[in-house]
Amino acid sequence: MILEARGISKEYDRGGVPFFAAEDVSLSIGEGEFACVVGRSGSGKSTLLNILAGLLAPTSGTVSLEGREYDDLSDDELSELRNTRLGYIMQGHSVLPNFTVLQNVILPHVFFKRGGDPADRALSLLERTGIRPLADRYPSSLSGGELRRVSIARALIMSPGLLIADEPTGDLDEETASEIMKLFSAVARKGTAVLMVTHDPDAASCADRLYTMKAGKLSA
Ligand SMILES: Nc1ncnc2c1ncn2[C@@H]1O[C@H](COP(=O)(O)OP(=O)(O)OP(=O)(O)O)[C@@H](O)[C@H]1O
Ligand SMILES: [Mg+2]
Repeated sequence: MILEARGISKEYDRGGVPFFAAEDVSLSIGEGEFACVVGRSGSGKSTLLNILAGLLAPTSGTVSLEGREYDDLSDDELSELRNTRLGYIMQGHSVLPNFTVLQNVILPHVFFKRGGDPADRALSLLERTGIRPLADRYPSSLSGGELRRVSIARALIMSPGLLIADEPTGDLDEETASEIMKLFSAVARKGTAVLMVTHDPDAASCADRLYTMKAGKLSA
């Protein structure tokens, strides 16, 4: 298994009343599997993804990526694992304003060198996401959907074992969204596990496995 989560819960205090944003969620994703999570706004999808990505500590439960359990790792080890083996396309925008599009995509490679020149791969990912002509532009001059595609290319630059995507096609037109789903399917065929949250039925139909999140609980 690439990703294994066991009994994940996240409890928040809501004015003295306990509230579970995620409740006893278990999930396994194998190599090359394309899984999709749907569910209403506020049902806990992003909370779950943040926990699976090691960015948010659960109240209880364990997560392991490629056999390494997050609880057993130091902060530095977890950060290295996250940055080298996991690509995360966040729900908001996470592109750095003072770097060009190409520099943003190459950034993870600069921090966690893997050998080889990342520029060719970055340019090919920009081609695949349809923003190759924007390589030298700065984020402030890009549209929302173009910025989203920079995050998608950046999440794939390290050839991660797991790609997590939180509503990756939310601000894209139908045709561009379909290109991105083709890219995700191709990435999955090459062995990267994909876990995507979406409200888009067309995008969800590309997945091998569909889960529904309802009030913090995940069901198949
Ligand atoms: N830090 C926090 N403190 C308290 N409650 C929180 C916190 N973060 C999230 N929540 C609550 O947890 C619930 C789940 O939030 P989450 O962002 O996971 O939902 P979501 O399913 O991703 O929704 P959307 O589809 O709108 O993105 C929401 O009710 C939210 O208000
Ligand atoms: Mg969300």
